[in-house]
Amino acid sequence: MISPAQAIPSPGTGTASGPATRKVTRGSLLGIEHLDAVEIMSILKLARRMNPLKPRPLLRSKRVLLLFYEASTRTRGSFEIAAKSMGATTTLVLSSGSSIEKGESLLDTGYTLRAIGADVIVIRHPHAGAPLLMAQHLDIPVINAGDGMHEHPSQALLDAYTILRHKKQLNKLQVAIVGDIFHSRVARSAIHLLSKFGAQITLCGPSELLPEMATGLAPGLRISRTAEEALRGVDVIMVLRVQKERLAGQRIRLQDYIARYQVTTARLKLAKKDALVMHPGPIIRGLELTWEVADCPQSAIVEEVHNGVPLRLAILAKALGKAR
Ligand code: CP
Repeated sequence: MISPAQAIPSPGTGTASGPATRKVTRGSLLGIEHLDAVEIMSILKLARRMNPLKPRPLLRSKRVLLLFYEASTRTRGSFEIAAKSMGATTTLVLSSGSSIEKGESLLDTGYTLRAIGADVIVIRHPHAGAPLLMAQHLDIPVINAGDGMHEHPSQALLDAYTILRHKKQLNKLQVAIVGDIFHSRVARSAIHLLSKFGAQITLCGPSELLPEMATGLAPGLRISRTAEEALRGVDVIMVLRVQKERLAGQRIRLQDYIARYQVTTARLKLAKKDALVMHPGPIIRGLELTWEVADCPQSAIVEEVHNGVPLRLAILAKALGKAR
């Protein structure tokens, strides 16, 4: 999915990536930034052809290693279900309870997993660039399941898939992304993807969670400091969690945040009537959105999780050269 020529690390991956020119393993999916619209559409079209209820045994005898250094429910669960339903065996390695706790390096863990027979590694890691580093040193594809504040490509792809099921096209769609954008790999990947297809994106949040420099992520990005302005007339609202685990040293008063940025029924009414409410999860009801908004008819939050399975069927099948 990412070609060797596209292996130049983005700024977010620079320090951990080693030599910029080192090639990554064919089939790896490391981010959205370096994919073009054709590559993205080919994954989305393949996902559309995948039937999660009747998947073909494309990965029979393949071994999928799920290597998670951070907590996950949706990503881990759907990669595992996708792999197993195509006939692969899966092995889960968590940082706690593995030799990572004894100080084993990322690459030594990767070499170990390869040596025990992994055909593909799906990795989530708290540091940007960890999947890239692995893909540069191993001879099997590596799939980024979220690396620090850098990218979460499979989430952006399943979100695009979900939007397309409702809106038919991404071009000129007005999208508001509200919340903790600074810490969000989901936001970064979504911005890269949606802007490649001509969506008009407004980012919304307080300056602590949305610095002005965020507009440099893609051409045409706008920033709004009020939820009312950001949501007016939009087709899609992407709500993000305030990531308490990444807020060390920052002083965010949650009550202020809720008062100014929580997506409420009243604020939702400012968007188009058929606006889609999205959230990558986990959602914190009563913080970034109300209970009513989370469960409203326009909410696609559960559907996003559901769509994670066909999307990850497509990613794994493509990574292992079993589908195009
Ligand atoms: N959206 C997402 O990445 O959820 P998990 O952390 O549960 O995988």
